[in-house]
Amino acid sequence: MDFSEAKEEVRKAADIVEIIGQHVQLKKRGQNHVGLCPFHSERSPSFTVNQDKQIYHCFGCGRGGDVFTFWMEYHNLTFPQSLKDLAERYNIDLPRYGDVAAEREKTELKEQLFKINDLAADYFHTTLVKNADGRPGRDYFSRRHISRETISAFRLGYAVNKWDGLVNYLRSKNISLGRGGKAGLLVPKKDGDYYDRFRGRIIFPIFDLNRRVIGFGGRILDDSLPKYINTPETPLYHKGDSLYGLDSAFKDIRERGLAIIVEGYMDMLVLRQQGISNVVATLGTALTSNQVRRLKGYTREVAVLFDPDDAGREAALKSFPLFLNGGISAKVLVLPQGEDPDSFVNRYGSDEFKELLRGETPIFDFYLDQALAHMDAGIDGQIKVLNEVLPIFMDIEQGAIKSLYVHRFSEKTGINEAVVWEELRRREDKRAESRDTSQIKNRLLSGQDPRKYGSDLQFLNLLVYYPETIDTFRDQEWELIISDPEIIKIIRVFMEKRPPGGDLDRIEGFLDSPVAKEQLRPLLMSEPMYTDESVSQAVNEFVQKIASVKRSQSMRKASAEGDIETLNRLIKARHDLDLPSKEN
Ligand code: UTP
Ligand code: MN
Repeated sequence: MDFSEAKEEVRKAADIVEIIGQHVQLKKRGQNHVGLCPFHSERSPSFTVNQDKQIYHCFGCGRGGDVFTFWMEYHNLTFPQSLKDLAERYNIDLPRYGDVAAEREKTELKEQLFKINDLAADYFHTTLVKNADGRPGRDYFSRRHISRETISAFRLGYAVNKWDGLVNYLRSKNISLGRGGKAGLLVPKKDGDYYDRFRGRIIFPIFDLNRRVIGFGGRILDDSLPKYINTPETPLYHKGDSLYGLDSAFKDIRERGLAIIVEGYMDMLVLRQQGISNVVATLGTALTSNQVRRLKGYTREVAVLFDPDDAGREAALKSFPLFLNGGISAKVLVLPQGEDPDSFVNRYGSDEFKELLRGETPIFDFYLDQALAHMDAGIDGQIKVLNEVLPIFMDIEQGAIKSLYVHRFSEKTGINEAVVWEELRRREDKRAESRDTSQIKNRLLSGQDPRKYGSDLQFLNLLVYYPETIDTFRDQEWELIISDPEIIKIIRVFMEKRPPGGDLDRIEGFLDSPVAKEQLRPLLMSEPMYTDESVSQAVNEFVQKIASVKRSQSMRKASAEGDIETLNRLIKARHDLDLPSKEN
């Protein structure tokens, strides 16, 4: 028995309702069991367990997964430990760790992509440091005061301004261009050929903790746009999962007990060059919970840099619950307006920056200070601040901590604490209500115009429970009626693989994007929205809806082009079609 077989054995033996039921009080409701979520605090149950599919999902905090995920999250264990626990419980033999044959295929693809990334990093780096056509890159880095040591320590590079620089290099190394495409380095053309994604840019390889290259960022040399491009989603690179520089910073972060978080590649590099080694960069995105989770392994204290302006205040406020719920204490370092760490160090020097590090403010105080400094006088100002802060309070998981902050907030702003609480409760109730999926379903089944809602879930639900309808839609432009691109991905895979018995679980492995995977779970939980009687009507409605979206597109095009004849024809066609359907 190999690992994946053992995993399947455990999955078969361990009943998720039984396992979770030992930790959470569950009640049967419809096809599901529900209870209060053990991962966030709530007053009405949105934690849902489905016995058929052996999965759980909290409609409140979005956490969920299978029996292994639950065990891992609840007991804070790794996957192998959880597998061992559960296997022991159900008397299932585990293979030795040596023969992890299970994920071989996936691993092989990843290995190939690592290799390609490594070759590409070499190619860009060599161009930068040795080749004649790397000159623009060298000039750029020297203008920005990046030293040779930094260039070599971070394997910085330069991509020449050509369509086939890397294409030719990979060819010369006998690498299939398709694989280069999978690595996100090459872009496919219509004719099956490929071209370089990164052209005329300096290159920042992004490493994992083993210092293997998972992706790249590339900055243009002048003011043209986009300023940066990055590796798209690949099996190795997931935006918002990694932190730039963590591989070379984590030891120092652990030693000092503090991580400094900046936004940009250059900020991270310049600070490192100044001997500040516990720095990582988020690469432009607002900090994500995955990034917080990564840091948590090394420190419980972080310092984030924000501007003293509206954007900085809002960013601080948004990241606040993330840190709080992650059990991390976050301090804010305030830069002068308009400066980033790179420009600051170059203007004032690194001693000034170290000075700045001492003047840290707890993140919520920073927010309050900024809010108060900009708060308009009187009731209007108070309402504005209250509206800004309430959604954030709602996201604080622990009640006691929430009270603390509510108290501080009303003390500082002078807004009556009882009012804050009342408004908070009102919104929390409202949120719980809108979460209640059965309500949405009822609304849909009661025949309200579905066009007001995206048809995403309904459409997928139809395909899942009535897979015989797939063929009707395969050649239609069904994408037109789906608003969420992640759901489009899921539907595509679903149409292609047609998992037997509508087993959505099976398609998870075919989804590249973690967002799509995340979305899959609530879909797995959704009960059939159609009945044998209503299926054919539903199919008809979707077909008509596709046609109607297509018509409006053509009409928009025709009217933009001044094509009166086509426009008239389309209007007439819509008329003919719409009239009968409106009457019933
Ligand atoms: P900034 O626009 O603040 O750029 O974006 P920067 O880091 O100061 O870059 P320089 O100093 O002008 O060279 C911060 C970070 O956001 C990401 C990059 O990671 C960048 O470092 N970003 C920015 C993108 O991914 N794409 C963009 O188009 C812009
Ligand atoms: Mn900058």
